[in-house]
Amino acid sequence: MPDSADTNEAIWKSDAAISHWVSTAEDRERRRADERRLMAELLPFDKDQQFTFVDLGAGTGAAARVVLDYFPGARAILADYSLQMMEQGRRELSAFGDRYTYVEFDLARGPWPAEIPSEVDAVISSLCVHHLPDKRKGQLFAEILEHLLPGGWYFNYDPVTTEDAVVEAAWLRAGDRRDPEAAAKRENRTPGEQSRHENHVRYMIPLAPQLDLLEEAGFEGVDVYWKQLDHVIYGGRRP
Ligand SMILES: C[S@@+](CC[C@H](N)C(=O)[O-])C[C@H]1O[C@@H](n2cnc3c(N)ncnc32)[C@H](O)[C@@H]1O
Repeated sequence: MPDSADTNEAIWKSDAAISHWVSTAEDRERRRADERRLMAELLPFDKDQQFTFVDLGAGTGAAARVVLDYFPGARAILADYSLQMMEQGRRELSAFGDRYTYVEFDLARGPWPAEIPSEVDAVISSLCVHHLPDKRKGQLFAEILEHLLPGGWYFNYDPVTTEDAVVEAAWLRAGDRRDPEAAAKRENRTPGEQSRHENHVRYMIPLAPQLDLLEEAGFEGVDVYWKQLDHVIYGGRRP
């Protein structure tokens, strides 16, 4: 964990960080299209079924959008604490009309806002849980379980770390071959990029303890449903 202070909130509530995020989103989303789609494919609903799902740390709605596209009867509640990300998301999701709402929710602190019903059909999160300290990850998983209807699924798409230097070197090697600019970017970060990187990795942990936290929270069917290098989709359902 970096020595520097936790800057997560300052970063996600800063105009500069959000414009950087938005300006680089198209390229990232092109590379993540398969994972985004798999999150939708993993949900157990019929194509035309009506259901409500929550996207925690939804940002501009990149994950929710794919589920809304895949299931025309779905309604999304997108939760985030960055007003800037939510404002951008409202612009990007406008084609979905009244099929989505945003709610302000600080996942690090709670409580869950009243706009999220006490029981929903599914919960997803992507690229956000790694911003929470471990204790809060576990609490949040338990709160997600409480908010799911019996049989309701939770899936999380997130980066993970490894404690094995050999594995880490293999991840880096393959990542650098896929993105020929990655090594130079890593070695020549601007102060802003370094700060965002430290925020990115501060509470990131290996995969196994996260699966343990899901099981301890009471989920069944806990598995890694997709994995590529340091990115995973894991999840489980409420018994
Ligand atoms: C890397 S972005 C991912 C956004 C979106 N889920 C996606 O996959 O594109 C992380 C998001 O998590 C949100 N976030 C980080 N910490 C949070 C917290 N404590 N409470 C609520 N949202 C948080 C940020 O505001 C940001 O929108």
